[in-house]
Amino acid sequence: LKVTWDAQAAEKEGYTHFMMKEINEQPKGVHDTLHRRLDKEGNIVLDGIKITKEDLEKINKIYIVACGTAYHAGLVGKYAIEKFAKIPVEIDIASEFRYRDPFIDENTLFIAVSQSGETLDTLAALREAKRKGARILSIVNVVGSSVSRESDDVFYTWAGPEIAVASTKAYTTQLVSMYLVALHMAVTKGMLTDVQYKTYMEELKAIPEKIKKILGNTEKIQQLADAQFNNENVFYIGRGVDVAVAYEGSLKLKEISYIHSEAIAAGELKHGTIALVEQDRLIVALATQDKLYDKMLSNIQEVRARGAYVIAVAKEGNKEIEKVADKVIYIPDTLDELTPILSVIPLQIFSYYIAVARGCDVDKPKNLAKSVTVE
Ligand code: G6P
Repeated sequence: LKVTWDAQAAEKEGYTHFMMKEINEQPKGVHDTLHRRLDKEGNIVLDGIKITKEDLEKINKIYIVACGTAYHAGLVGKYAIEKFAKIPVEIDIASEFRYRDPFIDENTLFIAVSQSGETLDTLAALREAKRKGARILSIVNVVGSSVSRESDDVFYTWAGPEIAVASTKAYTTQLVSMYLVALHMAVTKGMLTDVQYKTYMEELKAIPEKIKKILGNTEKIQQLADAQFNNENVFYIGRGVDVAVAYEGSLKLKEISYIHSEAIAAGELKHGTIALVEQDRLIVALATQDKLYDKMLSNIQEVRARGAYVIAVAKEGNKEIEKVADKVIYIPDTLDELTPILSVIPLQIFSYYIAVARGCDVDKPKNLAKSVTVE
């Protein structure tokens, strides 16, 4: 008898790579992160967070600090907290934060976001904020990690172990966590009506099924990847919260496929990057924000007029965009604020198939580590 499997392959549960397995675990991760925080009446219960109404009223500034993909989740967190809870939020890359003498006092809330909870830069930034008197809240995946142990309040994501270096399910569970923290703050401060709160919660609860829908229909994304894998330069553009997703989509592509990729706010194109747009340059355009849709359409037209090949990501039902973009990837409809949890999924899949087509080591890209514990 010849045994043809090894322990690692068994853990992949039939998937060729951990990354694809983890992409497919996102409906469960998002569901678990959400439902473990809801009581029978549907109210948010943040068991690891002891910030009272009085505490919250004192907080006049929030810093969100993180690295890599966690930083991109933080960008969405800034949108959510400012929009729902109306507290000013600054967002920082951890390796920059502690060297720039940030203005912190006892009325500052510092939010660290980290999958591993061991990233040295994030930990050092946290310690600096703590030394200056900030209250520390962390959004972490690994229970008992250094970041969680050194925080005043901890919100655990329920992604489960993430093995692939490129982060996928940690990111989407960080996003849900950010929304829950922001909504909880908003409710505690009396910033949302019951109807608004219920609308956001109903939409959040519907997200896992919508992710499943995207995951059940990936052939078109794979075909696009198979047609585009030879590109050496790609731009991701978006407006509003789509910019945050553009950053994450771009990072996903470059880290596993080694294609040079950049993300930019679409409105900034005209201040430099458009000089690089030429015939057949691949541009991935996120166009999910209803409020900013017309502006985004004109940015797509601008780059198409210079010969770019545009793959747009848009909400289902938007037929008009097919006339402007070369190809469209649809995501199920949801509220503008929540689209990042859906729009990132096709970008993860697109990057995955490009990396596979280029013969890259998807789960262990060169020069990268899952957790960076050195400066
Ligand atoms: C490394 C990983 C990234 C991750 C970043 C931050 O660079 O390769 O996937 O986003 O560290 O890690 P953390 O564990 O703090 O979220």
